[in-house]
Amino acid sequence: MVASVVSAARLDGKVAAVTGGCGEIGRGICKALQELGASVWALDIHPFNSQDHSLAGFVEVDMSERASVESAARKIGDVDFLINSHGIQIRKSFMDCSESDWSRIMDVNVAGTYRACQVFGSGLRRKQGAVVNISSVNGIVAARTGAAYGISKAAIAHMTRVLALEWAPDVRVNAVAPIALPSAMTADLFADPNYRRDRAKGIPLQRFATVEDVAGPVAFLLSANASMITGQVLLIDGGFSIQ
Ligand SMILES: NC(=O)c1ccc[n+]([C@@H]2O[C@H](COP(=O)([O-])OP(=O)(O)OC[C@H]3O[C@@H](n4cnc5c(N)ncnc54)[C@H](O)[C@@H]3O)[C@@H](O)[C@H]2O)c1
Repeated sequence: MVASVVSAARLDGKVAAVTGGCGEIGRGICKALQELGASVWALDIHPFNSQDHSLAGFVEVDMSERASVESAARKIGDVDFLINSHGIQIRKSFMDCSESDWSRIMDVNVAGTYRACQVFGSGLRRKQGAVVNISSVNGIVAARTGAAYGISKAAIAHMTRVLALEWAPDVRVNAVAPIALPSAMTADLFADPNYRRDRAKGIPLQRFATVEDVAGPVAFLLSANASMITGQVLLIDGGFSIQ
């Protein structure tokens, strides 16, 4: 019997870990997954604002430290869903990007995603779970707003494909690649009226993304409605990349 799309969208009884769960997008993902019935753990280097909504728990973690990620996984146990939404940006051109800038971006964004997938991997396989990584439109289309960041997001997109292949048929692994939206990471960009005007003009749907624009597709990719989808990087960019 084919399940209804409505019941297949539900995530009841599932346990999710959201890295960067205190960030703008991470909080939105936590909220969406909870609304769909999942038990959600937020992992972040910064404490969670518990007034937002009630979580299964918050675990302080530094994604650049393997021991810290391992300790978080021990506390949480096996998860059905892993969402890698942590990240940092260092807004420098390629030539201005120092060795330490490069290493920091790659360590947090790329190796942090690698660590989380590896540390939570056995449990995900036991539970036949799903992963969604947060890449970026900057990982697909070259941008002048942070060279190392875009390269790190391209690596995350490719890590998604490699893992999807290695972990099939047990675990589905997908990514989303959003266009810019206002958050702590992009506060400098959105403070500039020229950026807001010029960038929005280049987006066919004529607006920036919202947290909900990202959280909805993440929830879909985790759900049984996406059970034949793996290894994909879904652009959430209002058509920016089709031009
Ligand atoms: N905002 C955008 O325009 C945009 C667009 C595309 C992709 N993204 C991606 O979405 C994700 C979330 O970004 P956001 O916009 O919510 O930014 P944000 O700054 O609000 O959230 C990022 C979160 O990552 C956490 N973090 C940073 N370093 C960490 C570490 N070492 N260990 C654990 N946690 C750490 C931060 O504390 C923060 O809560 C990031 O991966 C970002 O690259 C953002």
